[in-house]
Amino acid sequence: MKGKICVAAIVVLLTLCLLPDVPMAETDIVTTTKPPFTPGIFPCSACHAAMAPNKERRELTFHTEIQLKHAQEQRWCLDCHDAANRDMLHLANGDLIPFDKSYQLCGQCHGNTYRDWKTGIHGKRVGYWNGGKTYSLCVDCHNPHSPKFKPLKPMPVPAKPKDIQNIKGTTSVEIEGKKIYIPNENAK
Ligand code: HEC
Ligand code: HEC
Ligand code: HEC
Ligand code: HEC
Repeated sequence: MKGKICVAAIVVLLTLCLLPDVPMAETDIVTTTKPPFTPGIFPCSACHAAMAPNKERRELTFHTEIQLKHAQEQRWCLDCHDAANRDMLHLANGDLIPFDKSYQLCGQCHGNTYRDWKTGIHGKRVGYWNGGKTYSLCVDCHNPHSPKFKPLKPMPVPAKPKDIQNIKGTTSVEIEGKKIYIPNENAK
């Protein structure tokens, strides 16, 4: 009886040891929103499969809406986009990642923000407190090509009711004896 238990224990131990050591890719456990592509631009290979990649830094004649303002002195498009497979991004070590894991690319350089994002301090996630969650991708909020937020223009202070008299750009209407000013574009 003891022998059997011993053998069983050894078998269990051996199985545990031999089980492939699946690296717990912490970065793979999140569900994210879909990459916010411009309609029609993906798959990139629709055009790029038939084109030879051009690794030279240059003024492009296509994608001209993209202005690189993101450590652009040090890098170029193909530091993030893969030259051979345009439907993928690549990490600094050469590993290919799909666009729905672009946060891994960002996380390489923005480690602190990435850590905060994963724990829900930075960015946005929706779902259950103790269950499945959907994370917004970094690129839902930051343009990967020009990520700095444009400063917001402060709005003028609202006018006090007693000062509201025939303000430029408004039309007054009388409702129940009271003058009400409405913006001209809303006036009939
Ligand atoms: C910092 C890394 C990085 C660099 C550098 C970079 N890109 Fe991107 N690019 C991305 C990521 C990430 C996305 C995916 C955005 C998304 O998920 O919608 C993207 C999206 C795109 C798209 C799709 C845009 C759309 O409208 O949906 C095009 C086209 C593109 N990049 C071209 C370029 C070109 C051309 C350059 C160089 C001038 C460049 N990228 C430089 C990371 C980068
Ligand atoms: C409608 C066709 C078309 C689609 C779709 C397209 N591209 Fe391009 N792309 C071009 C053309 C044309 C050029 C070359 C422009 C030049 O040489 O001035 C180019 C150039 C680039 C370059 C500069 C490097 C190189 O090889 O010339 C990058 C990076 C790039 N595209 C990324 C993307 C990404 C990422 C996507 C998908 C999200 C995408 N493109 C989708 C047509 C396309
Ligand atoms: C290779 C390193 C690298 C990668 C990869 C990278 N960044 Fe950056 N990022 C930088 C550097 C360096 C700066 C500061 C210089 C600048 O803004 O040009 C910066 C600036 C920023 C800023 C502006 C910070 C501020 O002070 O306002 C944001 C936001 C940002 N990155 C988001 C992203 C996102 C999102 C991604 C992934 C699509 C990404 N970064 C990928 C290096 C990187
Ligand atoms: C839901 C929108 C949202 C998402 C998702 C998001 N960010 Fe941000 N991020 C912001 C806002 C808002 C700011 C603050 C901008 C400011 O203060 O000027 C910011 C600021 C930053 C900055 C500037 C430095 C700082 O901490 O103030 C960096 C770098 C940055 N984000 C990177 C990232 C990366 C990397 C990811 C993904 C792992 C990400 N962000 C996801 C909204 C977002």
